[in-house]
Amino acid sequence: MVQKVTKAVFPVAGLGTRFLPATKSIPKEMMTLVDRPLIQYAIDEARAAGIEEFIFVTSRGKGALEDYFDHAHELENTLRKAGKDDLLELLRQTNMESGAIAYIRQHKAMGLGHAVWCARRLIGDEPFAVVLTDDVVLGEPPCLQQMIEAHAETGGSMVAAMEVPADKTSAYGIIDVAEDMGAIVKVAGMVEKPKQNPPSNLAVIGRYILAPTVLNNLNKLKQGAGGEIQLTDAIADEIREGREVFGLRFRGQRYDCGSKAGFLQATVAFGLNREDLKDEFADYLHDMLAMQKAAE
Ligand code: G1P
Repeated sequence: MVQKVTKAVFPVAGLGTRFLPATKSIPKEMMTLVDRPLIQYAIDEARAAGIEEFIFVTSRGKGALEDYFDHAHELENTLRKAGKDDLLELLRQTNMESGAIAYIRQHKAMGLGHAVWCARRLIGDEPFAVVLTDDVVLGEPPCLQQMIEAHAETGGSMVAAMEVPADKTSAYGIIDVAEDMGAIVKVAGMVEKPKQNPPSNLAVIGRYILAPTVLNNLNKLKQGAGGEIQLTDAIADEIREGREVFGLRFRGQRYDCGSKAGFLQATVAFGLNREDLKDEFADYLHDMLAMQKAAE
């Protein structure tokens, strides 16, 4: 039987330089889509998938993330006295059970693989998830849940996968497909950001379910693409050592909130996805496009 996945690692140590000057004093994971910070979407998705322990790999200047998931007693009391139950309920979703979140520091920016390796002692000897907050996925059921359900059938390790245009393969971990079974593919190898000859156009998106043996591969602290310790390389080593890795073509739309254009697209999509905003927002977008067309 496949062991249940109850732990997830959230690498949130990055500087977020692409969003300067905003990220000068706020962590990029606190940037909001509509009214929720990116980290909240990631945590909600993990919770929906049955994750119980949340491991944040942080760095200097990420204190706002710790505060965000703490109880805000003064604020809660004020809202309670004012009878604002709906707002209290909203805040409740940001509270975590005591001991459910652990924070670990990554002292040097040495890559995604290194960030995950920093959490090795908290992960221990069980399969675990990794969620990259830059990749926001609108999907039902949420992406990680789809993966956990698929992983319960396949075992091994699993990455979220998505076809990307041929000229974009150098921005992703790319899968060499051994066997295409439709939604699930068996992985023959993986290359991080191939500059040329990508093995396919099937890219890894920031959701992973990993066997604990991946941590042994990370222990080698081997430098890969861009001089960084790459998670992709440690997963590829699994295959070399005879263990199975799968890709899941998840159902849903992924937004690259690590880029400005992707963040704007996500803002529009999430705005249109919200019952309380969609009519007004859709009318506005419609009028704006019509005005632009008329001006052309
Ligand atoms: C990371 C991974 C890469 C993956 C990507 C998905 O890269 O290293 O394999 O395809 O996330 O967003 P990053 O975008 O952090 O450079």
